Amino acid sequence: MNKSTNQIRQDFLNFFKEKKHVIIPSSSLVPNNDSTLLFTNAGMNQFKDIFLGLKKTKHARVTTVQRCLRTGGKHNDLENVGYTHRHHTFFEMLGNFSFGDYFKKKAIMYAWELLTSKKWFNIPKHRLWITVYEHDDETYKIWNQTIQIPSERIIKIGDYENHKYNSDNFWQMGDSGPCGPCTEIFYDYGKNALNSSSEFIKNENHRFVEIWNIVFIEYNRISQTQIISLKQKSIDTGMGLERISSILQNVNSNYNIDIFQTLIKSISQFSKVQDFNNISLKVIADHIRACSFIIADNIFPSNEQHGYVLRRIIRRALSHGYKIGIKQHFFYKLVPNVIRSMGISANILKDKQKKIEDVLKSEEMQFSKTLEKGLQVLNKEIKNLDNQILPGEIVFYLHDTFGFPSDLTEDFCREKNIKIDHDGYQKAKKNQKNQSNLKKPFYKNYNNNIFFNDSCIFEGYQKHKTKSIIKYIFVKDQSVLNITKNEVGIIYLDKTSFYAESGGQIGDIGYIYYKKSCFIVEKTKKYGNTIGHIGKLISGTMTVNQSVYNKIDKLYRSSVSLNHSATHLLHAALRNTLGDGVVQKGSFICNSYLRFDFSYSKLIDTFHIQEIENIVNVQIRNNIFIKIKEMSFEEAKTKKATALFENQYKSTVRVVFISNFSIELCGGTHAKRTGDIGLLKIISQSSVASGIKRIEAVTGQEAINYFQKQDNNIQDISFMLKVKSFDMKEKIKKLIHQIKYLEKKIQEFQKKENTHQVKTLSNNAYDIQGTKVLIHTFYNYDHKSLRVISDQITEKLKSSIIVLVNVTNNHFNVITKVTKNLINFITASSIINMIVTKTNGKGGGKKHIAEGRGLNINIIPEILQNIKIWINKKLKNK
Ligand code: ALA
Repeated sequence: MNKSTNQIRQDFLNFFKEKKHVIIPSSSLVPNNDSTLLFTNAGMNQFKDIFLGLKKTKHARVTTVQRCLRTGGKHNDLENVGYTHRHHTFFEMLGNFSFGDYFKKKAIMYAWELLTSKKWFNIPKHRLWITVYEHDDETYKIWNQTIQIPSERIIKIGDYENHKYNSDNFWQMGDSGPCGPCTEIFYDYGKNALNSSSEFIKNENHRFVEIWNIVFIEYNRISQTQIISLKQKSIDTGMGLERISSILQNVNSNYNIDIFQTLIKSISQFSKVQDFNNISLKVIADHIRACSFIIADNIFPSNEQHGYVLRRIIRRALSHGYKIGIKQHFFYKLVPNVIRSMGISANILKDKQKKIEDVLKSEEMQFSKTLEKGLQVLNKEIKNLDNQILPGEIVFYLHDTFGFPSDLTEDFCREKNIKIDHDGYQKAKKNQKNQSNLKKPFYKNYNNNIFFNDSCIFEGYQKHKTKSIIKYIFVKDQSVLNITKNEVGIIYLDKTSFYAESGGQIGDIGYIYYKKSCFIVEKTKKYGNTIGHIGKLISGTMTVNQSVYNKIDKLYRSSVSLNHSATHLLHAALRNTLGDGVVQKGSFICNSYLRFDFSYSKLIDTFHIQEIENIVNVQIRNNIFIKIKEMSFEEAKTKKATALFENQYKSTVRVVFISNFSIELCGGTHAKRTGDIGLLKIISQSSVASGIKRIEAVTGQEAINYFQKQDNNIQDISFMLKVKSFDMKEKIKKLIHQIKYLEKKIQEFQKKENTHQVKTLSNNAYDIQGTKVLIHTFYNYDHKSLRVISDQITEKLKSSIIVLVNVTNNHFNVITKVTKNLINFITASSIINMIVTKTNGKGGGKKHIAEGRGLNINIIPEILQNIKIWINKKLKNK
């Protein structure tokens, strides 16, 4: 029987575990701290710094099953997905890694053993072909002499156009980073044996499939032309799980392996297409896996970066759904099928299933509105074509109006043998921008976001008040000429002193006014290059083109600025104390506190928190002048300024210097001197995502308020405890001790009381045909003792039925016991049911013991009376 994909994944890990490799979990699809890579595209990504010798490793040998995405950059397979047997956006890469441990020979021997030995994958040796880097004689010899592969089946692959280290058999992660020569193992699907390497080259694409790449990491690529040797030689290997499964399951396409077939089957149920080789079914199956895992790694659809890749994949899948006649929202409904198909790899999806479904559903609802219309336009345009090329303006129109990414349009055209004019598309994009710059002051895109082609000059670094002209007014999302009293809206000016929310810093508040007209600015936000002043007109009217003054709330701005400077100090202090692994992941700075998110996985103990506070407060007391300078990005880099890599910086940047202690690129507003901050106090630490910590802190008057509040609390407590604050700790210790002692005493008394109750109640039980019946109500009895008492009474009375109720305040608890000899006539759970259904309560249990509780205490006596009659009757008829 063929091995399942889930078994193959496990076998791979088990094999390398036997070879003393430590199994490490897959890293996220979004690489941590790596600005060179949008998505994880190989198993080695998470070990990049270890390969480069920048980080030490705990283990010299590891093995992983890594989730990978190849939809951009050096490795991009998106457009081939569905049209070939082997390409995927998302796939799992099996890998074994050695960091300065074994090298070429062992790596090759391990791969050979796993693939060919009977105990493991048992692939016939004659089906395997090898490629090696032309200049790598050592590897050639290992294959030829140690493994004994005949030389006809080892193909040497050289450099492109004689550019050294530029070959299919020289692997690199991206334009820079770890790299080295590699050797690849191919599987021959052909029926008749081939015997020469020239035939391999001829037939490579249709009968040979690359299954395993073994990379000898020896170099670090710095740039296109510069490559340096690494001190330590390492091994990085990668084998696509889907590919090896297709071989071991004897099928000719990755899409025919077990996990894809079940997925494809579930998709086909939404459409009329029953041919599992249908391209659209394959595209959707590939894309639902990719989207589920991307969202599980906390990426959501957007118009930028990771979010845009996700959006494109979702839209491509939805269009293929449309193409095969799926009329309902279907994509999100496939998530459970992905989870079911993927074995242990689906664990990360399980916790987030609802989130993934919600995100996909909302994206699907949004896009399906424009999808049909866009396709109608596209089909009409295609019909009118004179040749087989779709003009760039149409591709752009579809993008701009209907949200069709160009690759989606290309996908549709491809099947009709139509090409799209890429250059024309780029030109149309540029033209439209220029034209709209000239003609329209603003426009809305298909998501209803407003974009302005104007800009607003920010003068607020120097001035708190500016004279300006109103350029636009928006009320209820519509551009208007006037705003009148009590209307809420957004005012756009030609110049402003208001800082718009950005870089984590909250926007300014204040006023826009002229004579008797006054608009209160409650929030300030950026809209492209324009700044929107959001608020309410409280007197007079305001009109477009009118002159006005705008004035910020100085006190508010100064509190925010203190917090911003304090955030820079905190950032530097965190790195000083916890190391360079601390990288800013986000911040929020307002007038009352500051929040700073950063990469760090451990909990920071009190000692370190206080050390961080001390470092910041020393810098505050040093009263350092905060210097702000504009310079080129290159110059800022030479000053070692800290920058957020994901931000795109302009050629000129603003750098904030707090002596040499903190140098950061920043557009925000700051205090004049650190002394203005007064004091910083960290008030909380929490975890916001795996490996991301959040610290909140207060400064200046807020820090003093914080201490005063704490102090008031301490004084209140010391008053209650009737001791001085310094003696509180001792007093509380004593009280805890005392409470424990008293609890013990109460327990002892309770025990005695219970024994007494057991005795009295047992005597009160009445007898019906040899069975003792006891129905009793306690008031405010110890709730936990009910069970103890009922157990002891049952033991004493032998054949018995006991109903004990305990009424406390406005509710009651009840326990019922029926000895086993009686449960064929009467069960404890049926008695409990009779009680709880009438008392708005809850309860249940087994035949011999059941418990419940309820609220209507007034009817308890009546219910118990009825139960008594019912029990008596039942026992008499026994
Ligand atoms: N890093 C190598 C690859 O992705 C193994 O092919």
